[in-house]
Amino acid sequence: MPPAAAPLRPIPGNDCLAGADADAAPKTRGEQPMPRISVIFLTIAALCGLSGMVWGAYMGASGDHTMMPAHAHLNLLGWASLAIMGLFYAQPAAPRGRLAWANLWLSSAGAILMAPMLAWLLGGHERQMGPWMMIPEALVFLGLVCFLIDVLLSGRRGRL
Ligand code: HEM
Repeated sequence: MPPAAAPLRPIPGNDCLAGADADAAPKTRGEQPMPRISVIFLTIAALCGLSGMVWGAYMGASGDHTMMPAHAHLNLLGWASLAIMGLFYAQPAAPRGRLAWANLWLSSAGAILMAPMLAWLLGGHERQMGPWMMIPEALVFLGLVCFLIDVLLSGRRGRL
C-alpha cells in the first residue's frame, strides 16, 4: 500500500499550498488561478510592451529615432523586466508578501515614469529634467532590491 500523502498546509504570505502533495499533484494544476500579483505584473508588462511597440513602429515609420532610448527603456524595464518578475511570482515557492507588492508598485511606477521623463529629457530639456530622473531610477532600483530579496527567500524555502 502506498503511504498516505501528507496533508497540504498553507505557506505564510503565499496563496499556494505546501506539502508532499503540492509538487506531485498535477490534479491541482489548472484548477488554481495565477496569483493576483502575477496577473497584475503581466498586465502592466503587456501594456508597456504594446505602448513600446507602437512607439517603435512610429519611430521606424517617421525615421526619427531621437526617442530610441526612451522606447528601449519602456520595453526593457516595462515589458521584459516586469514580465520576468510576474512569472517569478507565479512559482509556488515565491514569497508573495509585502515585499512582493512593494516590488510591484516600485518597479511598475519606475518603468512607467521613466519613459515620458526620458522622452522629455531627450526632447531638449536635459538641464531641467536631469535631476528629476533620480526618481524613476530610485524606484526601479528599489524594486529590483525587493525582487532580489524575494528570490533569495524563495531559494531558502528550497522549493524552486
Ligand atoms: C513593434 C515592435 C518594435 C518596433 C517597431 C521597434 C522599433 C525600434 C526602432 C525604430 C529603434 C531605433 C533603432 C536605431 O535607431 O538604431 C529601436 C531601438 C531599440 N529597441 Fe525597439 N522596436 C520594437 C520592439 C522592441 C522590444 C520588444 C524591445 C525590447 C524588449 C526593444 C528594444 C529596443 C532597444 C534596446 C533599442 C535600442 C537599440 C540600439 O541601441 O541600437 N524594441 N526599436
